[in-house]
Amino acid sequence: MTAVLTIDEIVGIDFGTTYSGVAFAYSGDPNTISLIRHWPGSNQQTSVKNASLMIFEEDGTISAWGAQAEKKTLKSNQTIARWFKLLLDDTHSNYLGTASRHASKPPRKTAAEVVTDYLTLIHDHLISHLKSTYGCMLFNCTPIEYYITVPAIWSDKAQAVTKSVAVNAGFKGKLEIVREPEAAAIACAHIEHVDLKEGNRFLVCDAGGGTVDLISYQVTNALPLQIKEITVGTGGLCGATYLEHEFEKLLRKRLSKFGDKFLNERGLSSLFREFNDYLKVNFGEDDDEDEFNITLCGCDIDEDEEAGISVGCLIFSRAEMVSVFDPVINKVIDLIENQIAKSNRTIEIIFLVGGFGSNGYLRSRIQGMYPDISVQQPSDAWSAVVRGAVIHGLCEKIVTTRKVRQSYGVSCNCHWDPESHDKDQHYVCKVTGDEKASGCMSWYVTQGDEVQHAESIKLPFIHNARSKKRTSYEYDLLCSVAETPPKRSSHRMMFL
Ligand SMILES: Nc1ncnc2c1ncn2[C@@H]1O[C@H](COP(=O)(O)OP(=O)(O)OP(=O)(O)O)[C@@H](O)[C@H]1O
Ligand SMILES: [Mg+2]
Repeated sequence: MTAVLTIDEIVGIDFGTTYSGVAFAYSGDPNTISLIRHWPGSNQQTSVKNASLMIFEEDGTISAWGAQAEKKTLKSNQTIARWFKLLLDDTHSNYLGTASRHASKPPRKTAAEVVTDYLTLIHDHLISHLKSTYGCMLFNCTPIEYYITVPAIWSDKAQAVTKSVAVNAGFKGKLEIVREPEAAAIACAHIEHVDLKEGNRFLVCDAGGGTVDLISYQVTNALPLQIKEITVGTGGLCGATYLEHEFEKLLRKRLSKFGDKFLNERGLSSLFREFNDYLKVNFGEDDDEDEFNITLCGCDIDEDEEAGISVGCLIFSRAEMVSVFDPVINKVIDLIENQIAKSNRTIEIIFLVGGFGSNGYLRSRIQGMYPDISVQQPSDAWSAVVRGAVIHGLCEKIVTTRKVRQSYGVSCNCHWDPESHDKDQHYVCKVTGDEKASGCMSWYVTQGDEVQHAESIKLPFIHNARSKKRTSYEYDLLCSVAETPPKRSSHRMMFL
């Protein structure tokens, strides 16, 4: 008998709120992970991620996407779709509900349709990239496995929707969902110079455009690397886009004396572009320069000390830049503090990844807060999530133990206990004559419980049946995001 060695193409897709990336590796050569760096409209410029943007015409066709759409000025009959990823999670009780207000899409399209459109563009670009990299013959005979990442706090329903949307977009075959901070953690733990030893505890902070996701791990085995979650993942809405809001406040303070001369839609978008492309990304450590300039489009004012205008440029002091960054960074630090407290202050390393996670000033503030912790910014922090997704696909079971993010259980009737049950739950069972309580919850796992990879959880369950003919019964699996799940079943719980 001959053994057949299958060599697969492992593809990671980081579908981000503001930017998306794709990485791939051949399972026969797992040490070489490639990233798509050329995107339509980026000309000679390379980028490991492409903007999650699309411009729609009135008839629903897409005239530009990604880097192409970033450069375009929107015409009155066009609609821009942005931040549409967050519309896939309609769990309004969590913070994504607020975030969705930033999202825009053509009104006649559903969120799932818009995401399908975007993922179809990503899929088609990937396929043509793979064909040109490997040649059509090799491409045609290589099975592809896809690993698509989602935020840590994504509900089970949102994960299922993401999966079905990805299938509709063409990602067929093996398709698995990976949590973004878990993928980032896997990538960080695989950095060569990071010598993680058994017992080391580290926190991953994935600071992106919209959201900041955090989770902490302990190394349970150094070689092969195995890690376990030591906290439940948390997150907040304090990504780099919120710096833009603070910057706008500063602009209004400086320039409102000129009416809408500079603060009109066009003027503001050009100021934001300058801020995003230069000021924001280069704002770093304390010893940097003290003045930060941006060009003021259509400026015919030579000098205006009060507005801080000099030779057609708007000048900002370091203190002003700090006032833009600090309100957002303080929220990131609160999230980090919460994780460190949950780990019983045992964290030794903080890895900062994601676009905002690459920022120098963010790193220096966090290091200043935690002098005893090593705060590390991997050189390719922006692509950590997508590379981690590929590593996850190449070597399974790196994360051996996870903390359950929500409680799962079934509604049932229990033996009556006057101490713990309410009077309105009381009844006498017609089959056994026992006193019982209705509408109780039997939780299989509760938030924060540790579960092993691929572990199945079973609980005994007795159904007193009146009819001998019916042999099977179905029960709804319910879940609760409350820190302490309720004892009684209620409409506020979610069905799975
Ligand atoms: N050096 C930097 N300093 C500050 N912000 C940066 C820097 N580099 C990139 N960014 C910003 O990071 C954001 C993109 O980061 P990333 O791609 O990690 O986010 P995302 O994956 O789209 O968002 P999310 O993870 O919230 O879904 C953009 O807003 C970009 O302007
Ligand atoms: Mg991201």
